[in-house]
Amino acid sequence: MIPFPIPGPKIMTLGIRYVEESPSPADYTRLRRDAGWPEMDSEVSARSLGRSCFSVCAFDGSELLGMGRVVGDLGLCFYIQDLIVVRAHQKRGIGDAIMRRLMKFISEHAVENTYVGLMSAVDVEPFYHKYGFTTRPTESLGPGMTLMWKWDALNDRTQRGL
Ligand SMILES: CC(C)(COP(=O)(O)OP(=O)(O)OC[C@H]1O[C@@H](n2cnc3c(N)ncnc32)[C@H](O)[C@@H]1OP(=O)(O)O)[C@@H](O)C(=O)NCCC(=O)NCCS
Repeated sequence: MIPFPIPGPKIMTLGIRYVEESPSPADYTRLRRDAGWPEMDSEVSARSLGRSCFSVCAFDGSELLGMGRVVGDLGLCFYIQDLIVVRAHQKRGIGDAIMRRLMKFISEHAVENTYVGLMSAVDVEPFYHKYGFTTRPTESLGPGMTLMWKWDALNDRTQRGL
């Protein structure tokens, strides 16, 4: 059985190409902006995107409509990162087509009890449930924790000896 079969093109996504490559920093910035996410340094973006384990871009012609990537150590731990479909093309099956490709990649490298994580945006959890993800906390898992790096706050903590 193939755990994450890649669906054939739906009528509404005919013509969309899924390419296993990182987006350019300019396209990445455009997608983040469309999603309302903070803008990141372009050089850091270029370097970091190139270090992904696996990336998928959805193109209509030369226009990037969506992306997703997997980061991790290729065995024990993977994270789904930067899954974005531009607003104007959401609800056409593009996010699903990208997500299936990311999960297929992970399924080819994961072993029993490999950890697969992601940080869901608000209200997107039900989308991820389809691929086997669980909303935390559960009876055995805590709520999960996150740190968005802020230099000022961290310097302040250091100065106060925390
Ligand atoms: C989340 C996102 C990637 C989904 O992409 P999409 O192309 O709109 O999703 P699809 O059209 O492939 O939807 C696939 C299925 O998930 C459902 N779905 C899509 N978004 C959903 C949501 N927010 N909550 C619940 N279900 C959702 C669709 O209804 C569809 O269901 P179906 O198969 O029963 O018809 C897209 O909405 C997005 O980019 N959002 C902004 C950025 C973001 O928040 N990314 C997630 C970061 S964690």
